[in-house]
Amino acid sequence: MDIHSKKIRKRYSRISRIYDFLEKPMEYSVAKWRQELMKEVSGKVLEVGVGTGKNLAYYPEGLEVTAIDFSPPMIAEAGKKAAALNQKIQLRVMDVQNMQFPDNSFDTVVTSCVFCSVPDPVQGLKEIRRVCRPYGKVVMLEHVRSHKPVLGPLMDILNPVPLCIYGANINRNTIQNLKLAGFRNIEVRNLWLDIVKLIVMTNLKHK
Ligand SMILES: C[S@@+](CC[C@H](N)C(=O)[O-])C[C@H]1O[C@@H](n2cnc3c(N)ncnc32)[C@H](O)[C@@H]1O
Repeated sequence: MDIHSKKIRKRYSRISRIYDFLEKPMEYSVAKWRQELMKEVSGKVLEVGVGTGKNLAYYPEGLEVTAIDFSPPMIAEAGKKAAALNQKIQLRVMDVQNMQFPDNSFDTVVTSCVFCSVPDPVQGLKEIRRVCRPYGKVVMLEHVRSHKPVLGPLMDILNPVPLCIYGANINRNTIQNLKLAGFRNIEVRNLWLDIVKLIVMTNLKHK
């Protein structure tokens, strides 16, 4: 793992125990969006960047879920949540930029608020394409940089603040990154302004 990735991982590890508290003011809105995300999920599922496991309560029953995060303390928090929910889920410490799963391992890959912080997002997204089976689904709840004339540049100016505290960028162009990683037919639904998006893709591997 490169130095930059280690730095971002350290920031998430540092806040893992207070992450839910820090995020609490936002969770009312995010909870609704998590429900939308979970409507798209089926079969053998991989959740990337599970964090403290905030999505776990929203998974429909009967799925086989594996979840990864590159921060061991985050995985520990997710483990506590899974135990409290009595949920059987495979948790693994792993970097999305270099996953240890064989090609075509999953029917659905899920992310929420992850690609704001993956150090090399295009590499991470290429890895998701690889481990998701052909015609499988990739579903993402992500915040991105606004294209609005004042808001976009303001997000660029403010970006160092969350980057320093959390390791998260608020000015990522995730749609562009998806295209660079080879995704096509990208369905995007705006959930809040043009910033929070539900992104749904079928994994067309041959293209
Ligand atoms: C903002 S948190 C979101 C957590 C969770 N998905 C949620 O919705 O609350 C981002 C998470 O992505 C993880 N992450 C960032 N880069 C990663 C990478 N390269 N590989 C795996 N996990 C990563 C961080 O450790 C952190 O737990």
